[in-house]
Amino acid sequence: MEEAVTKPKPPLKIAEEDGSCPAVERIPDLQGALPQATLLIQNLQEGEVHAVHPELGPGGSWKPNDCQARDKIAVIIPYRDRQTHLTRLIDFLIPILQRQRLDFRFIVTEQYGNDLFNKGRIMNAAFIFAESLGVDCVVFHDVDMFPQDDRNPYSCPPGPRHLGAFVSNLGYQLWYKEIVGGVLAVSMSDYRAVNGYSNQFWAWGGEDDDMGQRILSLNYTIERPNPETGRYSMLKHVKRKRTAPKLIYKLLGNSANRVAYDGLNETDKWTIRKVTTRPLYYHLYVDVGEVPEEWRAKA
Ligand code: BGC
Ligand code: MN
Repeated sequence: MEEAVTKPKPPLKIAEEDGSCPAVERIPDLQGALPQATLLIQNLQEGEVHAVHPELGPGGSWKPNDCQARDKIAVIIPYRDRQTHLTRLIDFLIPILQRQRLDFRFIVTEQYGNDLFNKGRIMNAAFIFAESLGVDCVVFHDVDMFPQDDRNPYSCPPGPRHLGAFVSNLGYQLWYKEIVGGVLAVSMSDYRAVNGYSNQFWAWGGEDDDMGQRILSLNYTIERPNPETGRYSMLKHVKRKRTAPKLIYKLLGNSANRVAYDGLNETDKWTIRKVTTRPLYYHLYVDVGEVPEEWRAKA
């Protein structure tokens, strides 16, 4: 009997003629549907994730060495007290972004103090920081959103791309046309064109709907993946409440008018107090200023 010889597989040749990486849609070694990520490893530590990925540089940066990356991206994760979600998400995204052959890094943007959250302001602050890193686009990524398919492209989109379109907790349905919450990829110039997020939404809800309306008011089409590749599992967490729903509705009634003056160009609305470069991410602490009293929940 002949012995079966297992020859080592020749390395997959990825690079195109000019040395560049293929567009995500043409990468041959993606996996498609991924194992469900809903199981949370409790207390997964940053050091443990880093130990498995010694190839990452400061700030969780990486780029492929088998081809020239087409896009330099920053994944921006707004964060508040969900440490296990955070390390688990980064751990989950690393191999996906590596297979997609992207030049990536992570920016975790955290609000200073414990007062009402202003997600728009910490996103705008993180965007300014991302610009200083010279990236081509940013991917705003909620900490509880786990992609279920690696064909959903995290590459830089020609226009705003809503990656987080079909979400487990939302019945995998697109509920309205301006929805852009969860995961959104935008080029640096498009984010500037919509003047970033509004600075006026406090506590939970609305700032992403406002962003969707900004995008549509400037006649962009919101690109979305197909319902198969664009699936996400959203981790279960205690749902936060709107503290002032009427104020949210009022703001959402004039989103298009506020584009010009309420957003990225109002740089006095936030201050980056501290930046640390950690093994897996850049960590920003952002001071968002005083909460207007009318946004506090009425007792
Ligand atoms: C909120 C959004 C949120 C969406 C999905 C809307 O009512 O205003 O902020 O992303 O629901 O949960
Ligand atoms: Mn959530």
